[in-house]
Amino acid sequence: MPNKSGHITHQELLLNALQVVSVTVLVLTAACAAPRPTSVIPLPAYILETGADAFVLDTDTRIALSDPTDTELRHLAESWAEPVREASGFSLPVVAAPAVTGEANTVTLRLSGGTTEANDEGYRMDVTSRAVDLSAHTPAGLFYGLQTLRQLLPVNSEDWSMPAVVIEDAPRFRYRGMHLDVGRHFFPVTFIKKYIDLLALYKINTFHWHLTDDQGWRIEIKKYPKLTEVGAYRQETVSGKNFEKWDRPYVGDGTPHGGFYTQDEVREVVAYARARYIDVIPEIEMPGHATAALAAYPQYACTDGPFTVPTTWGIFEDIYCPKEETFQFLEDVLTEVIALFPSTYIHIGGDEAPKTRWEESALAQQVIAREGLADEDELQSYFIRRIESFLQQHGRRLIGWDEILEGGLAPQATVMSWRGMDGGIEAARQGHDVIMTPTSHTYFDYYQADPDTEPLAIRGLTTLKKVYDFEPVPSVLSLDEATHILGAQGNVWTEYMSTTDYVEYMVFPRMLALSEVVWSPKNARNWESFSRRLAHQLQHLDKLGVNYRPVTAPATP
Ligand code: ACM
Repeated sequence: MPNKSGHITHQELLLNALQVVSVTVLVLTAACAAPRPTSVIPLPAYILETGADAFVLDTDTRIALSDPTDTELRHLAESWAEPVREASGFSLPVVAAPAVTGEANTVTLRLSGGTTEANDEGYRMDVTSRAVDLSAHTPAGLFYGLQTLRQLLPVNSEDWSMPAVVIEDAPRFRYRGMHLDVGRHFFPVTFIKKYIDLLALYKINTFHWHLTDDQGWRIEIKKYPKLTEVGAYRQETVSGKNFEKWDRPYVGDGTPHGGFYTQDEVREVVAYARARYIDVIPEIEMPGHATAALAAYPQYACTDGPFTVPTTWGIFEDIYCPKEETFQFLEDVLTEVIALFPSTYIHIGGDEAPKTRWEESALAQQVIAREGLADEDELQSYFIRRIESFLQQHGRRLIGWDEILEGGLAPQATVMSWRGMDGGIEAARQGHDVIMTPTSHTYFDYYQADPDTEPLAIRGLTTLKKVYDFEPVPSVLSLDEATHILGAQGNVWTEYMSTTDYVEYMVFPRMLALSEVVWSPKNARNWESFSRRLAHQLQHLDKLGVNYRPVTAPATP
């Protein structure tokens, strides 16, 4: 993934009239001595601070459920109450909902049914000095309401008050993603769970788990044990900035690196995410970024090998060879992956696959001739189509990086546009769904400030403000085409992030800016307002032990 040279044009950033929201934000500031202003991120679609009143939690506050026999509702209530009980000492008992709303000193959670696609993640909240009433059509909606409620409480205070507000909220985009590359560096399950917790707090609903790459294969596959016995470990890691070979001579750190997730751990992570209304999309890279797999099973390459798990970064020429045995291997791997991940989408990579080996391979050339393909790009397209058809037979859908456009898109593929927005525009015009993840605005492995004063990052400059200003829907698309932009995602490639602290430093607070891009109405975004609310959120992050990058003032590029 080194070729991160995608650019976004100024035109793409111009305000456009797409994705019109039917609600506008109205924030009334109370004239009298107002309680703490609300600092919710992402900003709700509609929020009205109704005055000086506040709801104050105390020893008598109860939590009421519209259906106390509903275990999911009970779990939701407990998930919110538990940390508050711990911090406040209040017992916050969970009781059946009163017949009449607004019973004094009660936080009511109400599931009202009647889901439609438009409201299935939305919620409504009323906070008055008497009571809190939170309702939604789905448990996911309630979950998001509870994240808002969590943020309405002070972080470090004995004052358990929440400002009186009316909130009507629903996300702008249905795909709100964060990615994590565990191939370049492996991170333990404890960290994956912390990451998922933080995604949930900011209403991100998709975790894209990049599980395989040249430098490490991280998921146990029972049928092919060498994938992890061999592919999950490398002898050492190149020291410092050595992405481009010509930067300076190779110096290794002398420390073996590796690790993988067992299938039990994968199931545990998937369940943990699910309880937080987060879908986990696994990525199994093909046909490129496959050296770790080829180190384990060289027979699926076009040349004899042997291969070793690389200790440097970059793009490697040995990729999967389009042999029948290779397809069998990949289908076997995907069969185990499908059994572990309930997600409709399976990500198959598709990026940065050099065609050198295919050009030189008699076998690859035979496939080109046999299938009547024009060239190696069409061979890649053939490769991806075969995998798509396998996934579809199993009821799943394929996502790939925008290189899968080259040689022709697989019929139902969803495209992740990373080399700028152009791939996404092209795919949307062809009627394909798109997730926008351009290097220019959503690559959190890029520097976030002056490289001279920052820890090593891959390149670029993607400030917090730049992330905040990202507009996922290109103005050049028609309204109809724009409906294919499902949302956006932040990508976290970890060549230089060798520790969890390092990952947190690169992701936070930029992820909070992205959360507002993908959740809040376009016209409601306001940098000054976000900056003010962020100051409060940083206290949440402190409390959660997140090693975010300090926000230096003024927080502008
Ligand atoms: C990528 O950054 N190579 C998708």
